[in-house]
Amino acid sequence: MNRLEGKTALITGAARGIGLEFARAYIAEGARVAIADINIGRARESAAALGEACFAIGMDVTQQASIEAGVAEAAQALGGIDILINNAAIFTAAPIVEIERKDFDAVFAINVAGVLFTMQAVARHMIERGEGGKIINMASQAGRRGEALVAVYCASKAAVISLTQSAGLNLIRHGINVNAIAPGVVDGEHWDGVDAFFARYEHKPIGQKKREVGEAVPYGRMGRADDLTGMAIFLATDEADYIVAQTYNVDGGQWMS
Ligand SMILES: NC(=O)c1ccc[n+]([C@@H]2O[C@H](COP(=O)([O-])OP(=O)(O)OC[C@H]3O[C@@H](n4cnc5c(N)ncnc54)[C@H](O)[C@@H]3O)[C@@H](O)[C@H]2O)c1
Repeated sequence: MNRLEGKTALITGAARGIGLEFARAYIAEGARVAIADINIGRARESAAALGEACFAIGMDVTQQASIEAGVAEAAQALGGIDILINNAAIFTAAPIVEIERKDFDAVFAINVAGVLFTMQAVARHMIERGEGGKIINMASQAGRRGEALVAVYCASKAAVISLTQSAGLNLIRHGINVNAIAPGVVDGEHWDGVDAFFARYEHKPIGQKKREVGEAVPYGRMGRADDLTGMAIFLATDEADYIVAQTYNVDGGQWMS
């Protein structure tokens, strides 16, 4: 406990799901956290439930002005940002012949450009502040290989792994560690949406795909958001200072690399 005492964190897409669980875990370790989300109503409710060490920021990671305003607001309210978790993302699925350009553009605007330009805005702040920092990007096992129905999301998460490598190499000279976490299948509202896509394209009853993927995890069940918090805390501590540009699988044994 108290491994993040006195630290400050900005977590995008943290109104719910994994990002919200990260906020809870960081606060339990002594950090103060800004949760930034396009859904400001839900972010405010979530922040209120986490108490005084947490506050909500409305941020759309597809809009440059919104990123810059959100990062400035977080930096001012927190007295500087030590840790960024780039967590906001959306999912889409379709066979190759049915993919629509608007869905590709929406996924890449959030999952790839959102990660890059939020990372850039926070890195500029960290460099100006001169105290280094930790940046953690949320990749996925989907970024490790393609999937027949998930081309766009898989490509977006492969891009996150690649951006983590380039940014990690570029920013370590400023004492900023950039690394990523690649979860497997994590239960929650996100996966309810994924399940609905598979119900449509694989003609399965709602809930069946979720059961199947859970049974296929070597560990024996789907992940939970709190399975990921240990890695998210560790990567934000000084103990991870020598770790640069890596993506860690936290997936119950789904992928080995
Ligand atoms: N759940 C899984 O199985 C799983 C597996 C691998 C990777 N991941 C990754 O982990 C991260 C968190 O996943 P989750 O399951 O908590 O997802 P989620 O869908 O529950 O939460 C995503 C959050 O991002 C927010 N968001 C969407 N668009 C935004 C935008 N333009 N600007 C700001 N916020 C925006 C949403 O409002 C939501 O609160 C994502 O990067 C996801 O790709 C999840």
